[in-house]
Amino acid sequence: MRVLGIETSCDETAASVVALDAAGTPEILSNVVLSQIADHAVFGGVVPEIAARAHVEALDGIVEAALADSGADLAEIDAIAATAGPGLVGGLIVGLMTAKAIAAAAEKPLMAINHLEGHALTARLTDGIAFPYLLLLVSGGHTQIVAVRGVGDYQRWATTIDDALGEAFDKTAKMLGLAYPGGPNVEQTALHGDASRFSFPRPMKGAAQPDFSFSGLKTAVRQAATAIAPLSDQDVADICASFQAAVADALADRVARALDRFKAEFPDKADPALVVAGGVAANRTLKAALQAQCAAAGFAFVSPPLKLCTDNAAMIAWAGIERLRAGLADNEDAFSFVPRSRWPLDSVSTPVIGSGRRGAKA
Ligand code: KG4
Ligand code: ZN
Repeated sequence: MRVLGIETSCDETAASVVALDAAGTPEILSNVVLSQIADHAVFGGVVPEIAARAHVEALDGIVEAALADSGADLAEIDAIAATAGPGLVGGLIVGLMTAKAIAAAAEKPLMAINHLEGHALTARLTDGIAFPYLLLLVSGGHTQIVAVRGVGDYQRWATTIDDALGEAFDKTAKMLGLAYPGGPNVEQTALHGDASRFSFPRPMKGAAQPDFSFSGLKTAVRQAATAIAPLSDQDVADICASFQAAVADALADRVARALDRFKAEFPDKADPALVVAGGVAANRTLKAALQAQCAAAGFAFVSPPLKLCTDNAAMIAWAGIERLRAGLADNEDAFSFVPRSRWPLDSVSTPVIGSGRRGAKA
């Protein structure tokens, strides 16, 4: 089985072909990702109209490249899977309409995929891990802990009540005059900083409510920076290091709660695992803190290769394969599907109070 995946929910234009052989072993035949970072960097964040236009211009060529790299032509593709939400609606329309057109012209089945499901199932493509497992998704648009119980069976256990973690990194970077996207720059700058110089708050640490919050930390960073302005390079490095230490501490506390809950809800699961996905998962300080939590709680720590943790179309093609295999693909539904800028993975959990728009990225 070969599925063509298309991803256009934010500022990556991506297409990929993923195959599944008769033994059930997956293989990524191609994975093409065009980042629009350069188009948006000058604005300090993703501009939706620029993103949508860039997708229109690039997508045809990206799909062609993904097919060419895979060695398969369209006739040899069994189905098309496209991200249909959540994300920036302009980009979603471009990706889903293109997928509808290709599927209609080539008479192939179509699947409308939830971008978050792509992130949630990636560890089964890369590491073959079995259900159930716990997912920590930390990106520019989302900060969630999800119990992944099966294909299409997700339960959100925690989310952010304000900023997403990647957003907190990006805003902190902006305040300190570091370039977009801020996460990698904050991490790099923090290498030369003193993490004990500022004692920033550890949001939600110890709270009974399972959720995340980062806007108070962002305010504390702003106040500290304003109080000692103008900032020397060393000041900036110390703030970055102290910010990262606070985040690591807060994240570890939230995750520890979820690991406990997982053990309580799935007492028979012999080899429990925490999967980390999203761009923020690249951060080594955070990774080390999470690894320590997992080791202490007896969980495997699974971190798929960064290229598949950040936005890509292989995860969308893979989610399509998982749906086909589980008998959960609905062709008619997909052709009439209207892109959804908001589309919770878990339709059961109620929105948390205070959760506003959480950044452009998903
Ligand atoms: O998953 P991603 O590429 O896109 C989505 O948000 O879907 O994540 C991008 C986010 C940005 O906010 C970026 O600043 C953050 O991930 N990020 C990092 C690091 N690398 C990327 N944050 C902290 N440390 C990093 N090394
Ligand atoms: Zn994403």
